[in-house]
Amino acid sequence: MSTLPFDPSSSHAAEKVHAEIERVIGKDRPPRYEDRKSMPYTDAVVHEIQRFGNVLPSNLLHQTKEDTTFRGYHLPKGTPVIPLLTSVLFDKTQWETPYEFNPGHFLDAEGRFVKKDAFLPFSAGRRACVGETLAKMELFLFFTALLQRFRFHPPQGIRSEDLGLSSLPGLTNLPRPYELCAAVC
Ligand code: HEM
Repeated sequence: MSTLPFDPSSSHAAEKVHAEIERVIGKDRPPRYEDRKSMPYTDAVVHEIQRFGNVLPSNLLHQTKEDTTFRGYHLPKGTPVIPLLTSVLFDKTQWETPYEFNPGHFLDAEGRFVKKDAFLPFSAGRRACVGETLAKMELFLFFTALLQRFRFHPPQGIRSEDLGLSSLPGLTNLPRPYELCAAVC
């Protein structure tokens, strides 16, 4: 179960995304996937949400299909293997601030989007997620379409910090139920 603290930089990130949507798409048309190339900050935020959200921390169960030696360990054929995605998505040798929400993980000094080898929310290898391309398109389009129309904030009397980021226990990191206001922008 994830127990990450709330990071106030996420609300600053939302404002920057609103500004980028305004500059590149405006209000008169829906977002297109091609817009992503002109929206490095939004692209970085979507990636960081996936990294930080760590939706499937333990990945799916695999097993060795033949006798295998890995880093000096002998794994006989049929050994169950759990390739923990958390170990790469929060690897302190790969991410500047692994336990903070930081879109800068995917941006260079000039604000251009940079790919990261350790970004593996869809796993790796032959059995990696077959829906990766579709999922990436959906995430970008739904996220930009929502932030094009709405500003999201907690109900009156509740501070963003109080929402917390701990997840419900289970195979996936599911968010806890909470109330959210959407103000038309
Ligand atoms: C944000 C969205 C998604 C995430 C983070 C995600 C992540 C993953 C992960 C980590 C695996 C396990 C890979 C492994 O065993 O090494 C997986 C498997 C799979 N995913 Fe996704 N997935 C997403 C969306 C989708 C969508 C939209 C589809 C279908 C349209 C899909 C279809 C599949 C299938 C069929 C497998 C099993 C692949 C196999 O065992 O060969 N996923 N996904």
